[in-house]
Amino acid sequence: MDTIRSVVTGTGHYLPENIVPNSYFEEYIDTSDEWITARTGIKRRHYAPTEETTSTMGIKAARKALKNSGCKPEDIDLIILATSTSDHTFPSTATQIQNGLGITRGYAFDLQAVCAGFVFALANANALIKSGEATKALVIGSETFSRILDKNDRTTCILFGDGAGAVVLEGAKTTNGGSDRGILATDLHSDGSFKDILYVDGGVSTTKTSGHLRMKGKEVFRHAVSKLVNSTERVMEKANVTSAEVDWAVPHQANVRIIQSTTQKLKIPIEKVVVTLQNHGNTSAASIPISLSVANEEGKFKKGDLILSHAIGGGLCWGSFLLRW
Ligand code: ACO
Repeated sequence: MDTIRSVVTGTGHYLPENIVPNSYFEEYIDTSDEWITARTGIKRRHYAPTEETTSTMGIKAARKALKNSGCKPEDIDLIILATSTSDHTFPSTATQIQNGLGITRGYAFDLQAVCAGFVFALANANALIKSGEATKALVIGSETFSRILDKNDRTTCILFGDGAGAVVLEGAKTTNGGSDRGILATDLHSDGSFKDILYVDGGVSTTKTSGHLRMKGKEVFRHAVSKLVNSTERVMEKANVTSAEVDWAVPHQANVRIIQSTTQKLKIPIEKVVVTLQNHGNTSAASIPISLSVANEEGKFKKGDLILSHAIGGGLCWGSFLLRW
């Protein structure tokens, strides 16, 4: 029997040229490179200049993913952009990326699940491809978190950076006994009762401003480990695989200690975990596609590898996916 699978056929990422090392913060707040490195694993992040926006970075990452996949812009009939830092309140930033790529067919929309945004976007693109509503999708995460940071709050300003990552997802027929490539399972959750531990203190319909990020880091950390482990166990159960079969874990890049605790609980050796956060910090919804693209560029993935990914962010929203490369 034929089934449709969504296969990742290309990846790409973009980081702004301006690199901000940990030493930058030492100059004006009470912090140190040692503290940031030991508590988070982050060494540097990139900040977009004023003229660079979520859409311009998303376009650059998308162009690279298209080139890597061999698809042309006109082949794409779906764009989902995961972001919490849109260019404008409306129209959606996804439509501006669509326009920047010269695409006039299909449809594009933004999806907001903060740091879990890419997992939510990929799961939705997969569902639209499997249902026949789309055939070739660009799934993008792009963020300008530097614009919503309180630069004087040492507990948050050191964590986040700007950047974009993208994947091309193509529907492919899979016959029984044939190729098993593509997304095997997804698992999504949210619980709005946790709003107060991670949020932005502004918004169109409340303060009419964009506001600044606020976070109770310790509490988010605790929820992150337990919720990511639970969701990953569920997604593995759905796909009928065990963590011993996972070739690569590509987790959300927020804090190396969260990555270590989570993968240790899941019994995934650290050698199989892609860690890129030292070079770009937490880029929220862009973090997983950036890591996928970096690892792909480095030639880490082989056809048929089982790849696990998971993320948690404001909401709280969290989830995971498993795909065969
Ligand atoms: N430099 C120096 N000291 C600092 C800094 C800093 N930049 N930030 C905090 N401290 C201090 C604190 O004030 C505290 O001091 P005190 O003991 O005198 O009160 C001490 O360091 C310890 O602070 P903790 O908050 O307990 O440190 P912790 O080990 O929890 O690390 C961190 C903080 C890095 C924020 C961690 O909790 C974390 O990573 N949390 C999760 C963040 C996350 O994953 N977010 C993902 C979602 S993001 C999204 O969705 C947008």
